[in-house]
Order: sequence, then C-alpha cells, then structure tokens
Amino acid sequence: MIVVMGAGGATGGATLRSLAALGAPSRALSRDPARLAAGLDDRTLALTKTLPADAADPDSLRAAFRGAHQLFLTMANGPHQVQHELAAIDAAVESGVEHIVKISAPAAEPDSPVAVSRGHHLVEERLRASGVTATVLRPYAFMQKLLLLAPGIAAAGVVHGAMGQARCNYVDARDIGDAAAEVLTRPELAGATYPLTGGRAYSYPELTGLLGELLGRPVRYLDLPPAGLHAHLVERAGMPPWLASHVVEIQQLAVVRREAPDDTLAHLTGRAPRTLEAFLQESLHRFR
Ligand SMILES: NC(=O)c1ccc[n+]([C@@H]2O[C@H](COP(=O)([O-])OP(=O)(O)OC[C@H]3O[C@@H](n4cnc5c(N)ncnc54)[C@H](OP(=O)(O)O)[C@@H]3O)[C@@H](O)[C@H]2O)c1
Repeated sequence: MIVVMGAGGATGGATLRSLAALGAPSRALSRDPARLAAGLDDRTLALTKTLPADAADPDSLRAAFRGAHQLFLTMANGPHQVQHELAAIDAAVESGVEHIVKISAPAAEPDSPVAVSRGHHLVEERLRASGVTATVLRPYAFMQKLLLLAPGIAAAGVVHGAMGQARCNYVDARDIGDAAAEVLTRPELAGATYPLTGGRAYSYPELTGLLGELLGRPVRYLDLPPAGLHAHLVERAGMPPWLASHVVEIQQLAVVRREAPDDTLAHLTGRAPRTLEAFLQESLHRFR
C-alpha cells in the first residue's frame, strides 16, 4: 500500500491522480479528508482511501501509516515544515514503511542561499540515514505557481520580479506526479535523487512576452531590486514576510546559478515534459 501525504496539495494531488491512472490503489492523507475526497475525480476516488492525519500529531501519522509499504512525502512550506517532515519520517520508520519518496527542492545543500532548501537538505539527510529506501525528487519552480501572477496581470498587465534576464526551469506539477507514480511503482527506480525540470527554461521577459502573445495584449515585466520585490510582495500582494523572503531567495538563486533543463523527467515518464505554452494556454482565462 502506498500512502500519499499532502494529497490535497499540488504534488500530492498530482501523484494521487497519476497512481490512479496506473491502477495503483493508495491511501491519501489530509487534515481535512472530507474536503480532500470532495476534490477527487471518480477514477481517483475509486482507488483511494482518504484518512485524517496531521504531522503535528504523531499518533495520527502512525495510525495512517499502519500496514503501508511506501510513503510519498510532501509538506507545504512554512515555519514548521522541517519538524513536520521529520515527524513523518520517524512515524513511517516505526510503522514499517520501506520506501519513502520525498519532494525536495533544487540546491538542497547545507550552505544553500535558500533557507527552505537548507531545510530540505536536513530532511534528505535524515531520510537517507533512516534505513528505509530513500528516493528524492527535486523539482524546479512549478508552472502552477505562475497562477499567483494572474491578479497582477489581469488588473494591470504587470509582473514584478527580481530575476533580470535569468531563466527558470518551470515544471508542470502534473509531471511531478507522473514521475512520483513511476518511482512508486517501478522498484528499479527507487533509491536515487532526481532533479525534475520542464523541457526549456524561461526568463520573466520571455514569459511575459509569451503571455502577451497568448492574451493579445501587452504584459510588462518590472524588474525590481530584491528588497523592492520583498516590499512589493508583502505590502501589495499581502504575502507573509517569510514567504516573500523565500520568493526573493529562489529568484536570486536563479540569477547566480544558471538553470538548464535536463532529461531526467522524460527518462522517468517515457515522454517529453508538458510545455509552458500548453500550461498557459489552458490557464489563460485566469490571466484575463
Ligand atoms: N512551489 C514550487 O515551485 C516548488 C518548487 C520546488 C520545490 N517545492 C517544494 O514542494 C513542496 C510543496 O509541495 P506542494 O506544492 O505539493 O505542497 P502544497 O500544495 O503547498 O501543500 C501540501 C500539503 O501540505 C499539507 N500539510 C500542511 N501542513 C500539514 C500538517 N501539519 N500535517 C499534514 N499535512 C500538512 C497540506 O495538506 P492538508 O491541508 O490537506 O492537510 C497541503 O495540501 C515544498 O516542500 C516546496 O519546498 C516547491
């Protein structure tokens, strides 16, 4: 049995649907299982048992993991993320889980300039030392998060950033789910670390150019200094300061460390990654 944590979120939800598409049953965890079940399509629901679990409550994790062999582990970013992921690993090991697939991030290193990635490094290390088979997926920026730019584009035709001409390896969260489902169902893929990128990297000027073409009206990119972007995100977009700091840090990482797509995702799924053009095209109503 496969347990999927964060099943109501971007990568957990995608993994659940990809497992169902392969005919693999799973247990999906949420702090609100009724809300989770209400959001699932019929095919996924038929192969999924939804269960309550909160990473802040180890008893709920142990109950949810009982009898399971594999765990897909992802956790929303936040002040307790590391603590929650470590609690999930401890409970999974205690419950006899044999394989954990963890969603991590690029630059998961001890001296990473991105605080969240330093947290992922800690969790990855603990996972590898836990004795279970450890598979780590390190996706780049999710295309789905570009929808956060939609209000600014719809209202004023502007995207704010601090990346200059640097490019990002956007990847579709549904491809992350497909890759996760492969590593959960093909034992020969387990036990490795995989970076996951889209097929090509885009700068903000390229992204806004593409969006402008698709929308049929100009979309401007306004490049700000890092502190200016932080202030904009907190004061104008209403983001919590820790999240604004995270956004600034990942944009600065893209500036100092060139992002270049590779073919790991295609190797895992056996097909080319979904494209940014296709994602924007299907989401265009959100940007209007
Ligand atoms: N966004 C990006 O572009 C990007 C890029 C690279 C890596 N990442 C990494 O991807 C991960 C986030 O993945 P995601 O976008 O799939 O997550 P997400 O959608 O933000 O959230 C995943 C789930 O975390 C669950 N959660 C939060 N607190 C919990 C708790 N106390 N106990 C149990 N579950 C809890 C929530 O489930 P319920 O509310 O249903 O309980 C939520 O659905 C992060 O680690 C991030 O660093 C993100």
